[in-house]
Amino acid sequence: MAHIVTISGHDVISVSHENKEILIFKNVEQLSDFATEKWMNISEKAIKDKGCFTVALSGGKTPMTLYQKLANLKNSLPWDKTHIFLVDERFVPYEDKESNYNMINQTLLRHVKIPKENIHPISTKEDTPQASAIKYEEDLISYFKLSQGESLKFDLILLGIGEDGHTASLFPDSPSLKENKHLAIAITPSDTSKKERITLTFSVINNADNIIFLACGTNKAKIVKEVLEEENSLLPAAIVKPKKGKLVFLMDESAGSCLSI
Ligand code: 6PG
Repeated sequence: MAHIVTISGHDVISVSHENKEILIFKNVEQLSDFATEKWMNISEKAIKDKGCFTVALSGGKTPMTLYQKLANLKNSLPWDKTHIFLVDERFVPYEDKESNYNMINQTLLRHVKIPKENIHPISTKEDTPQASAIKYEEDLISYFKLSQGESLKFDLILLGIGEDGHTASLFPDSPSLKENKHLAIAITPSDTSKKERITLTFSVINNADNIIFLACGTNKAKIVKEVLEEENSLLPAAIVKPKKGKLVFLMDESAGSCLSI
């Protein structure tokens, strides 16, 4: 059942179902203001509960406004207690314009006082994407001090959605969707002209305490409808179902324009 709620003086369409909340904003600005507030609340709670806040960030265009807004808050955020990880990365050097780390650094990290040791990019210096995935998995195990078989729990994971329904670098019909042993894996896109990638797996994504999806633009409207309204959809974005955590789907009016609410 859809309601109109007022968030920071703006009317927003809201639909809640079990642990999933869908919010439709007028535009990316309002959506990003709300995502900033969510980030602050989740971070505050995590730091109060356990002394630090762990977040995994996606690449793509949609989250750039959010990253810039976080950067503009400058040092009012507890960066010394915030640990930034990446959801996925292209197997390219950090200086490459396709590098997610590059984008996140340009929009957010270089503008704030975050200690270097709190930034955990996916290393792409290795010889192969497979070696990079192994290295990232080792980094995660070491930072989270995981013992054998123990699951990893991010406080927050930010995800985007592709027009084909991919999320992170988990693409439709790929065997990677069933991966449940590894925390991170290498992906070779079926379109071989595209860059190889490294991504977190669903075993990590669905174990997060909070997942926020960001979707904007009319080009996302059809896939957003399919992901949210088609029962038993096997699209990667539809497989995002946090075991215990909360799932929030933030979109602008264009991305939400095909929904039946
Ligand atoms: C990436 C991603 C990817 C992205 C979606 C949506 O690095 O490209 O992590 O999953 O989130 O493709 O991208 P847009 O935000 O650009 O639409």
